[in-house]
Amino acid sequence: MNAPAIDWSAFAPQVVNWQRTHGRRELPWQATRDPYRVWLSEIMLQQTQVATVLTYYARFLESFPTVQALAAASQDAVLGLWSGLGYYSRARNLHRCAQQVVTVHGGAFPRSAEQLQSLPGIGRSTAAAIAAFCFDERIAILDGNVKRVLARVRGFADDLAVVRHERALWDLAQAMVPTTPADMPAYTQGLMDLGATVCLPRAPLCAACPVQSLCTAKSAGEPTRYPVRTRKLKRSAQSLWLLLARRSDGAVWLDKRPQQGVWAGLYCLPVFESDAALRAVVPPQTSPVDGVPFVHVLTHKDLHLHPVAVDLGAQSPAGGGAWFGADQWPALGLPAPVRKLLAD
Ligand code: ADE
Repeated sequence: MNAPAIDWSAFAPQVVNWQRTHGRRELPWQATRDPYRVWLSEIMLQQTQVATVLTYYARFLESFPTVQALAAASQDAVLGLWSGLGYYSRARNLHRCAQQVVTVHGGAFPRSAEQLQSLPGIGRSTAAAIAAFCFDERIAILDGNVKRVLARVRGFADDLAVVRHERALWDLAQAMVPTTPADMPAYTQGLMDLGATVCLPRAPLCAACPVQSLCTAKSAGEPTRYPVRTRKLKRSAQSLWLLLARRSDGAVWLDKRPQQGVWAGLYCLPVFESDAALRAVVPPQTSPVDGVPFVHVLTHKDLHLHPVAVDLGAQSPAGGGAWFGADQWPALGLPAPVRKLLAD
């Protein structure tokens, strides 16, 4: 026997009404339709919790109130303000995107998701979020949280690691957007809010869900079976040695990382692939001291970090870099584990 057909036209209005009564409405980027502000918040929120983003977002806007100000800034200034948020490719793309908005689009963000998606660092879902929030475009978002919400509501059991299946979920998402353009901001925010606060990965709060009566996963009794994704991230490991050289006045020796690879563009302790390579740049008659090794986890890689400290008096290590005083290094864009080593 077939299950009775569900009328999906009820879905969007229920999400919209719930967002207007129960969703998050106090976040600073919700009080604006300025695409610069909405874009900035969406990029920051991609891999970072709302609570952390709030402070960074305010500080960023204070330094760069407009896309022109951000485009004109130095990369060091941008990475310095991003320092601590992680995933620094976001900050480098943010800066490049601002420059393209100014040089290619005359300082105004394009108004369609399709054009927004051609800018650096703006993927399909982020482009849709900006277009829906700022311009009422009837276009679907589908970030990780929303995939979970829609896969459950629709009982979508196909493996999302398969591109064809992921595309099918995008098609479903697009078919479910509100018919009224003015509802797009509340709908888009409502899906995000449901994913973040109700349709939780391991323990969904179905009793609080505005679309529980439509939800296939709930009526099947096992919401956490969805979404299905088989592919596991391939992880690798790398050992690196970090030279923590201090001068007698307390200054530390830092080198700017190349634009490619781990911590691209950030200031960092000099990095070596072996203990021997590190020792080769330390002046003779000094006594390097091995620190406690620790693991720093990146998205695709575990970094096994071996700090080696050395007091150099008035000498400098061989190779690139410069001395930065205690009044200078805190403002630089530094990898989180390096900032911690310097602060200890
Ligand atoms: N995560 C991604 N976008 C968001 C938004 N606009 N509000 C809250 N959390 C989000």
